[in-house]
Amino acid sequence: MLHERTYAILGAGTMGQAVLRGLVTRAGVDPRRVVATVKHADRAEAVATALGVRVNTDNVSAARTADVILLATKPKDVMALLETLREAGALDHQPLVISIAAGVTLARIEAALPPGARAIRAMPNTPCVVGEGMTVLSRGQRATNADLELGCAVFRNLGRARVLDEEHLDTVTGLSGSGPAFIYLVIEALSEGGVMMGLPRAVAVELAAQTVAGAARMVLETGRHPASLKDDVTTPAGCTVAGLMEMEDGKIRSVLARTVQVSTLAAAGLGKPKG
Ligand SMILES: NC(=O)c1ccc[n+]([C@@H]2O[C@H](COP(=O)([O-])OP(=O)(O)OC[C@H]3O[C@@H](n4cnc5c(N)ncnc54)[C@H](OP(=O)(O)O)[C@@H]3O)[C@@H](O)[C@H]2O)c1
Repeated sequence: MLHERTYAILGAGTMGQAVLRGLVTRAGVDPRRVVATVKHADRAEAVATALGVRVNTDNVSAARTADVILLATKPKDVMALLETLREAGALDHQPLVISIAAGVTLARIEAALPPGARAIRAMPNTPCVVGEGMTVLSRGQRATNADLELGCAVFRNLGRARVLDEEHLDTVTGLSGSGPAFIYLVIEALSEGGVMMGLPRAVAVELAAQTVAGAARMVLETGRHPASLKDDVTTPAGCTVAGLMEMEDGKIRSVLARTVQVSTLAAAGLGKPKG
């Protein structure tokens, strides 16, 4: 399905490049079927060399040739970009438009598209860069089942992908979109503990990161509740329960839950017009 389409990745930054890599390197889409754009001309060549696809600053030409257009600029730039494309007639061939811009609703995107155009909103995260991403996709009013399948196929190259109603996307942004940063902080803190107790820093970081990755895999692959997995590690009167009590005293549960709450509320404010 992916191999028969042409793609324009508008905004080949961190996320745009991850999607490009997924299409070309992981899915084996012919690089000639993909074109990408950036804002600054001097960045285009570096990105083109790194990824082996055409990269320029001409959004209109890129969009005109594409069956699938990925909007991957910053949220504040997305509406102006759509307006430029629409005014130039670059969406008249009715491509599928997939936006990954945090906080920019499907209603706003669809209002900026020509009548009948199909849109999907997706919220990926940065582990897409290493093929361990989590992406949630929401269907626009006119997007078909085939569009949604195609969107999921694009992001399954980059990790996991699932479909949810758009009403959940701010929460998705606050949990899996922003979540890698929260977990980096946890990894940093665990490593700091290892360093404090005598481990070399590089070793401590490796141990902490692989422990987080391994624990995550246990949850995903066993399908068991995290609390039940935690109980398995917790010997009566042992060292793990002692550590867990310290975490509970520090209110880590509510701190992390509130972190997602605050991040979700902030996500809801992204992409809104100023004033
Ligand atoms: N990063 C995340 O964790 C994450 C997670 C989920 C969703 N998202 C969403 O993904 C989108 C991109 O985020 P990012 O982190 O990848 O940002 P980024 O690394 O800053 O990339 C943005 C890219 O857009 C390009 N750009 C800016 N204006 C443009 C224009 N008018 N035409 C064409 N290209 C233009 C920039 O070009 P230059 O390189 O020339 O400056 C840059 O390559 C955002 O909407 C964000 O909400 C990000």
